[in-house]
Formats: sequence, structure tokens, C-alpha cells
Amino acid sequence: MMVDDFRSDTVTRPCEGMRAAMAAAEVGDAVYDDCPTTKRLEAMVSERLGKEAALFFPTGTQANLAGLMAHCGRGEEYLVGQMAHTYRLEGGGAAVLGSIQPQPLPNEPDGTIALDAIANAIKPNDFHFAMTRLLALENTFNGLVLPDAYLEAATQLARSRGLATHLDGARLMNAAVASGRDAAWIAAQFDSVSMCLSKGLGAPVGSILVGPKDFIEKARRIRKMLGGGMRQTGVLAAAAIYALEHNVTPLSEDHRRAAALAEVLARFPDLGAGPSRTNMVFMTPKGIDTGAFAALLGSRGIAVGGRYGTLRWVTHLDVDDASVERVAEACEIFFDRQTTPAVSKARA
Ligand SMILES: Cc1ncc(COP(=O)(O)O)c(C=O)c1O
Repeated sequence: MMVDDFRSDTVTRPCEGMRAAMAAAEVGDAVYDDCPTTKRLEAMVSERLGKEAALFFPTGTQANLAGLMAHCGRGEEYLVGQMAHTYRLEGGGAAVLGSIQPQPLPNEPDGTIALDAIANAIKPNDFHFAMTRLLALENTFNGLVLPDAYLEAATQLARSRGLATHLDGARLMNAAVASGRDAAWIAAQFDSVSMCLSKGLGAPVGSILVGPKDFIEKARRIRKMLGGGMRQTGVLAAAAIYALEHNVTPLSEDHRRAAALAEVLARFPDLGAGPSRTNMVFMTPKGIDTGAFAALLGSRGIAVGGRYGTLRWVTHLDVDDASVERVAEACEIFFDRQTTPAVSKARA
């Protein structure tokens, strides 16, 4: 039984209040556009993010893909960070299903893409090249909040070269809460924004895409094509409305807890933990058996995420201060055990 699950902020379970809202939801057929609760969610989000229209999706992956496909036609190109979720972690959907050519560009350590890299990657209007149509950014990016001035400069550069702009704002509210910026200000820098409701906001399912009316109508057609036209989504939209009404402010608690966790992990230099970034802490252990470390955590009901040598801790609604304390205890036990055999050998 997992007690403290730090693998991702996607692991939260709906609380009693959210379940009650779901049970009470008024529903209709959302494909016929007559699900009142889904419409209420879409109106609420488009207003909150200052865009003309919004569309509910089952996942962030599908919301991003529909957004990319609504911006770019077959054989056209989008500029994207080499480590961005849409490029790296969405199964290559833009290329496979959208026939969109990704032009990946290096992400700087702060999550940005250098402005000159963007400028240099925009292809001239020459039939040899794919037509560059779109700049896609991600915020937060691996927990990092992209600086305000960068958002303005990068999107202004894209616009000045005739490109559209899309934000993968899976954790847009984390960025807004951490920076003190209104989410609508961040969204205003972009033509379209996707936002996940099933991450730190704690809804069980769902993402939303916002943008101009005609863009959202195009995305609605694409959503149908991608198999994302769902019916009585009011049950899910009710959870999302509850999440937006109750779970935005608590994101600051997640950020505080991630900072506390980073402090705990920093007590053990071999863990190679970095500072917290909104609700995340990354660590690249050196000189310890990472598998043994994860196994010890697991034996104490603690789960940590990550692949390829880097582990990721994510705080969310279902972990608390006691969870962080239990991580501290587990680390102490692990490092005590590391030193004990040497001591007993010396005694022998
Ligand atoms: C930055 C980012 N974008 C998009 C997604 C995709 O969301 P989903 O898992 O709902 O498809 C994720 C999921 O982890 C993400 O972290």
C-alpha cells in the first residue's frame, strides 16, 4: 500500500467534495454541445484565461495535439523545445497523426529557448523548406516558471515573423501561483493555451484548450477525429469546476512542501538533489545504489518517479508535511545502513 506517492501530481484521488459535485452534475451529450456542466466549465475557463472560447479534452496530450493541428497543416512545422512534453513525451503525435514537422531546439537550463535559436530556426519562404507556422512553449517547464520578460519577448518575436504561438500550460496555475502573475496575463501572451485539470488541480480526468472562437471550432473537428468527442462529460467537468474553485490556492502549499522536501534531500549530498521548482524536486544520485534507495523508500510506502538516472519528486494534494517527514526518516535509515557495514567490518 503506497502511503506517500511523490511520482506525479497526476496521482491525486478526488476528495469527498469533488465526488459529491460529480454525483450531482447535470449532464447532456457534449458532442451535441448540450451538456450544461461542460459548457459551464468551458465558459468559466475561457473567462478566467481571457480567451474567446474553450474546449474540454480527455487529456493534455490530446488538447496539445488538437492545438498543434489547428495551427499547422500537413507538412508545416512547429518550433518546440527539445525537452518539451509535446515533442518528447506525447508519442510523436504531431508528426504521426498531424503530419506536422517538429523543429526541436535546445532548452536552456531555465527552460527557455534562446531567442536567436528561435529566430534562426524560422525557415525562409522557399519551397525547399517546410513552412514554419508555430512556436510552442511550455510553462511550467519541469517545474520551472518561464520569466515574464521571456514570455513577452519570445511570443513577440514569433508574432513579428508571422508565427502563431501555443502554450502547453499543463501546470499553468502552478506558474501563476508561483510568479504572482494572473493566469490570464500568461495566457494573453499566446494565441492558444492548453491547461490540465488532472495534475496539481486534482481532477481525475481532463484538460482544456483555449483560444479564439474559430480556432476552437477547428480544434473541435480535430478532437472528433482524434476520438476525443465524449458524451456525458458533465460528470468530469463538475470535478474540474470543483478543482478550479477549491484547488488553485493550495498549489502554494504544494510549492512550500516541495521546498521543504528539497531541504530534507539536501542533507544527504549523495542524493544530488537540486532546489525545488514550484511543486517538483529533481535529483541525480551519485555513488549510491539508486535501485536500493528506491526499494527502501518503497518498503516504507514512499514512491518517487523518474527515469534514466534522474529521480523526480512531485508534491500535490495527497501528500502533506508528515509525508515529507517520512521521506526524511527513510533517507536517514538508508544512509545509516550505508555506513553500518563499514563500521561492523572495522570491528570484525
Ligand atoms: C507539461 C505536460 N504537458 C502535457 C502533459 C500531458 O497530459 P496528459 O497526461 O493528460 O496527456 C503532461 C503530462 O504529464 C505534462 O507534464
